Amino acid sequence: MGEEGKHHADYTNFNTTDRKEALQLLVDSYEALALDQRNWVCNLSNASSLLWHAYKSINVNVNWTGFYITVPEKEEMLLGPFQGKVACQTIEFGKGVCGASASTQETQVVGDVDKFPGHIACDGETKSEIVVPIVTKDRKTLGVIDLDCLDYNGFSDIDKQYLEKLAALIVETCDF
Ligand code: SME
Repeated sequence: MGEEGKHHADYTNFNTTDRKEALQLLVDSYEALALDQRNWVCNLSNASSLLWHAYKSINVNVNWTGFYITVPEKEEMLLGPFQGKVACQTIEFGKGVCGASASTQETQVVGDVDKFPGHIACDGETKSEIVVPIVTKDRKTLGVIDLDCLDYNGFSDIDKQYLEKLAALIVETCDF
């Protein structure tokens, strides 16, 4: 199908069960959608949908895919665009998996959330999680990408690799 005949919803048809292929398509789709749009609410809303559908296509049992965004001048994040159930609204830097990622500026891959000290359980059914920081070139944490899974060990280094690409693109393409 040519780009002209493409509907926005078609971006969520991943049609692959290959992890790397789906995640590369996710990154490419985000980039295409953000070409003529710099508003962060708009871009991250579509990104949370792409994340949800990409992981569902590869049969990862995600129950939450979304963002926490740093409050200007504070070491605190607020709930951003997401797909899934209602979630915690505020997370301080250093608290839980999201806060750990925001303050260390390192991706956190957690195979069993009960083994992560201070994990914040927004949904008691979550078993594993990955959180990727969104960090500017001058080392400011703009927020985090957060994905939760209903199974243990839902995420690995492959996810880290592609989600870090997505985070870098978000820094380039959004005005916060
Ligand atoms: N579990 C996260 C909190 C956010 S929710 O999962 C959506 C944490 O410990 O950071």
